[in-house]
Amino acid sequence: MSKLPRPTPEVLILGAMLAAGKNPVSGAALARQLGVSRVAVWQQMEKLRTQGFAFTAVRARGYRLTACPTVLHASLIVAHLRSHGRDCPLILLDEVDSTNDEAARQLAEGRAAPFAVIARRQSKGRGRLGRAWHSADNGNLYVSFAFRPLLAPARMQMFTLWMGVNICELVANFCGVTPGLKWPNDLLFDRRKAGGMLTEARMDADQIRDLVFGLGLNVNSSAGTWPRELAGRAISLAEHTRAPLDVNRFAAALLGRVLLAYGRFVDGSFHETFADLWNRYDLLRGQTVAVLQGEHRVSGTALGIDDEGALILRTARNGTARFRAGEVTIEK
Ligand code: BTN
Repeated sequence: MSKLPRPTPEVLILGAMLAAGKNPVSGAALARQLGVSRVAVWQQMEKLRTQGFAFTAVRARGYRLTACPTVLHASLIVAHLRSHGRDCPLILLDEVDSTNDEAARQLAEGRAAPFAVIARRQSKGRGRLGRAWHSADNGNLYVSFAFRPLLAPARMQMFTLWMGVNICELVANFCGVTPGLKWPNDLLFDRRKAGGMLTEARMDADQIRDLVFGLGLNVNSSAGTWPRELAGRAISLAEHTRAPLDVNRFAAALLGRVLLAYGRFVDGSFHETFADLWNRYDLLRGQTVAVLQGEHRVSGTALGIDDEGALILRTARNGTARFRAGEVTIEK
């Protein structure tokens, strides 16, 4: 914890209160920690009250945090993240064209990586294959992580798959329900899409210089609010578990998990767990599927992936086919 950068006063107040749980935190102790007067602490708390936090005064002992906003709140996310011994610069926007584009712009302007960009809604959310990503302000997460990894471009596919299994594992641990990963980038429940990943890179000679990992995750949107073309095809975590999720706590857990996973990818230690995780969450193995690549369509039985993350199919007459990209449909 001591290696984390100094937090803002808001993050420090929220962090102290989250750590204290049901116990009160003394205003004097907070003032000492912040190096400000008790009045200044009180003013910060008044500001937080206007943002959906509630504090209860406990006579002569301080304050307890009794309610948190249900909408995304940057300082609350960072306070949760720091309570797990991690930190990450976070940009939270009301609206942006695409968090992937915003992260790429900030990287191009020289902002230090890693950092994360979250938006409450996107006006031009993008998916794979030039598709749009529905990005209404409905309690879902639109987030991009920016890195400067200096990796060989061939490793990008594996990077997305590694992130995918980590996100599945996070969802399983956090929500108690197990999603499936449909190669290469879809998170599904009951064949309905709960999330999608979009990894984009800027190359420098033959290395990835800027890497943006974007995730759209349907967290809290309710059934019946999808546009017609997505009804029956999309699902949120809340819809699947029948309970709303604490989106700030979840976002913090996601940031922590992605940062950890990134570190393991770059240092190579992801090899120790990748195969197990892949086998746990892979939805396609053993299924009859069709892969569409432009006009070209190949059917077969999914056998798994190779060490570059390409999908392997057993085709008719016992041949095999290997796909580095494509759109998969499960046939039966
Ligand atoms: C897909 O399934 O095709 C990938 C969808 C990726 C959507 C996310 S939302 C956050 C980030 N910003 C974008 O514009 N796209 C990704």
